[in-house]
Amino acid sequence: MKNIVILTGAGISAESGMGTFRDTDGLWTRYAIEDVATPQGFARNPALVQEFYSIRRVKAAEAMPNAAHLALARLERAWPGTVTVVTQNVDGLHEKAGSGAVLHMHGELAGALCSACGHRWRAPDKMEAGDRCPSCNEPTARPDVVWFGEIPYHMDRIIDLLAEADLFASIGTSGQVYPAAAFVDQAREAGAQCIELNLDPSDISHVFDEVRTGLASQIVPAWVDELLGTVPDVNPAEEERDAP
Ligand code: APR
Repeated sequence: MKNIVILTGAGISAESGMGTFRDTDGLWTRYAIEDVATPQGFARNPALVQEFYSIRRVKAAEAMPNAAHLALARLERAWPGTVTVVTQNVDGLHEKAGSGAVLHMHGELAGALCSACGHRWRAPDKMEAGDRCPSCNEPTARPDVVWFGEIPYHMDRIIDLLAEADLFASIGTSGQVYPAAAFVDQAREAGAQCIELNLDPSDISHVFDEVRTGLASQIVPAWVDELLGTVPDVNPAEEERDAP
């Protein structure tokens, strides 16, 4: 087993204080998706959308990675093959934990994007309606996150990675949003072993070879320990002490 691809969703960051979307207290129980996570919602009420993301940006900047993020960074350091995290999360916690190979398919709260010229820059904590692009000076700054109806980032690279995957893991995602929810099918077709790690079985659990349920902070480090236990000369306990 050489290439590992790990898809993560809001559940991996839940214990870091970042809310999920579809749980009983999730963000989508308090906000309408079409108001704050679509291009049409932004066109209708840019102030509301900027405020929604500014609040989350500040929260993400203050959040700390939990044991699950740290375990994935440890896996990347110690695994003799490739480990790539494909995340739907926009919070930046994988990088804070020390992961290097991270693809942000839904963008990042830390980024700003000009919808006129495509320029990207680091977002200030608080973005406001009518903020100007530092490159073309148009009042068309938006959060660099992918909204419903838009095409996720890095899709060509992700499809290539799935085609080469030996092991595919899905962590903390409800399996309700495509294209991420179909990654397990693509990985299976490529012959990868597929495992789901989630609080409860997701909508697509039946497609996986193995499903483990529980808190990400507990089941992810245990899974990483198991994987690294198969690698000669790696002592998981020593690796854990190196974690940032
Ligand atoms: N540990 C593990 N899993 C957890 C934990 C936890 N501590 N807490 C919650 N979960 C699980 C939930 O059981 C749920 O299945 O995480 C999952 C979170 O699902 P969603 O809220 O739907 O989040 P996600 O799958 O990441 O959503 C995908 O939808 O709205 C969009 O763009 C947004 O990227 C997001 C996408």
